[in-house]
Amino acid sequence: MVCLGNICRSPLAEGILKHKLKEEGLDWKVDSAGTGLWHIGEPPDPRSVSIARKYGLDISRQRARQIQPTDLDTFDLILAMDSSNYQDILRLAKTNQQKQKVAMILNYIAPGSNLNVPDPYWNDDGFDQVFRMLEEACEKVVEQYRQVGEEG
Ligand code: 4NP
Repeated sequence: MVCLGNICRSPLAEGILKHKLKEEGLDWKVDSAGTGLWHIGEPPDPRSVSIARKYGLDISRQRARQIQPTDLDTFDLILAMDSSNYQDILRLAKTNQQKQKVAMILNYIAPGSNLNVPDPYWNDDGFDQVFRMLEEACEKVVEQYRQVGEEG
């Protein structure tokens, strides 16, 4: 799960997906990162922690990190929150196999739409909407790949 700062959107996406996987009994490795370096080592934005708590999730122990080129080998799927994150991640990809792992997360709800998860950093009211979008998208991600996981 990748956004710009790894303190607002992607920590929520990480927390939501991990929670869904636990409910489903699926053991997938999930992490989040930012394309930027400003917030490395910081906990999620208090507004993200608070909205997650409202929906019953604790994301307070996450710490921000910056995406590394090796992430494109470690993970099978790299989900960008917006088109600028998407372009930044693609710049790190060296092979076609790595490029094919990168997708816009809202395309799991609206295929081919390339819609952005709005950056709520400057908008205190945006966090609830972002949470609900990410919840819907994570549900689709689990639905789509559950079969692959079962097949190993
Ligand atoms: P995020 O939000 O990419 O969803 O974590 C942002 C966090 C910090 C900044 C921008 C967006 N910033 O400019 O510091």
